[in-house]
Amino acid sequence: MKIVAVLYPGGQAAKEQSAMLGCVENELGLREWLESKGHTYVVTDDKEPSDSELDKHLPDTDILITTPFHPAYMNGERLEKAKKLKLAITAGVGSDHYDLEHIHKHKPDLSVLEVTGSNVVSVAEHVLMSILVLIKNFVPAHAQITNGEWNVANVAMRTYDLEDKVVGTVGAGRIGFRVLQRLLPFQCKELVYFDYQSLAPEREKEVGAKRVESFDEFLSKCDIITINCPLYERTRGLFNEQALSKMKKGAYLVNTARGAIVDRDALVKAVNSGHIAGYAGDVWYPQPAPKDHPWRYMPNNGMTPHYSGTSLDAQKRYALGTKEILEAFFNDKPFRPEDVIVRAGAIASASYGEKK
Ligand code: NAI
Repeated sequence: MKIVAVLYPGGQAAKEQSAMLGCVENELGLREWLESKGHTYVVTDDKEPSDSELDKHLPDTDILITTPFHPAYMNGERLEKAKKLKLAITAGVGSDHYDLEHIHKHKPDLSVLEVTGSNVVSVAEHVLMSILVLIKNFVPAHAQITNGEWNVANVAMRTYDLEDKVVGTVGAGRIGFRVLQRLLPFQCKELVYFDYQSLAPEREKEVGAKRVESFDEFLSKCDIITINCPLYERTRGLFNEQALSKMKKGAYLVNTARGAIVDRDALVKAVNSGHIAGYAGDVWYPQPAPKDHPWRYMPNNGMTPHYSGTSLDAQKRYALGTKEILEAFFNDKPFRPEDVIVRAGAIASASYGEKK
């Protein structure tokens, strides 16, 4: 079989740094392991379509390994080129870089798996950091120091405490729940969540969170919102101009889920007007974020490149998980059910929309 792993432009450097898939290779000897079984293993880049190494390999690729951090955007056209593709593994969590609708309609032999749970703690910790960075006005305060300045009043005038605030998560799955757990000791006024799946009563009790069924009510009551749901047709642009306008004036928004859940230009407008007091997170569309992406330059942002889910600890977990998926596939053993996003063309995950 031919297994193709997509590293980002400069993938060799990534390997040397043991970053992302480099970790899969270096720590687990993926190449040696696959080649000893008689498979062909290729590491490639996904540069501009005009110069895409990946496109050259797609027609005879059996298994594709990608990451969400430098995603290879597998649109319908590319999926059609990949005539032999049977298994697509996301080394991490979030497979929205595949056109899942297209797979559902036209690729009945393709399964998409990810390493569920592998980096959820890493992201939950980043969410907490992002919330604090925003409400403590950390970025300009730190910039004062490196610029040789000292103006306490100037930064204190936009600084708040988390205690006594209403904080809500869109999505109370693995990351959302861990965010609520980590918020609990801060003694917020209220912790709420918006999700079509309810937490079990004992889980709700553990974190003292209430489910809000109306999205409008959720938007209007939160001082801080964190987004922790997958990107698919129902969540693409969920935070559009209308939704942002329904948020409390002066509220903060943190998004470590996917960039395209938030409307790029509507957000810039809302932050510039001050309606949204600050925005932080690490996800963009597209990735890597172009130099002129306006979220890089808007005021009161705590943006970083997409790295929350790829801490060195997380890399080990998703590298191991990737190898386990491959092992199950080669030995015709069942996959961990929670890893299966699409099984033979059909959406299998409960997190990509309510089943009617
Ligand atoms: P999960 O599957 O455990 O939880 C997702 C939750 O979102 C589920 O409870 C689901 O019911 C809910 N949901 C789905 N559609 C919704 C909607 N329309 N409105 C409200 N809730 C909705 O997933 P997990 O592990 O918590 O990850 C969530 C997302 O975070 C991933 O899909 C991925 O996009 C992103 N992520 C980002 C990472 C990063 O490095 N920044 C790393 C890992 C995940």
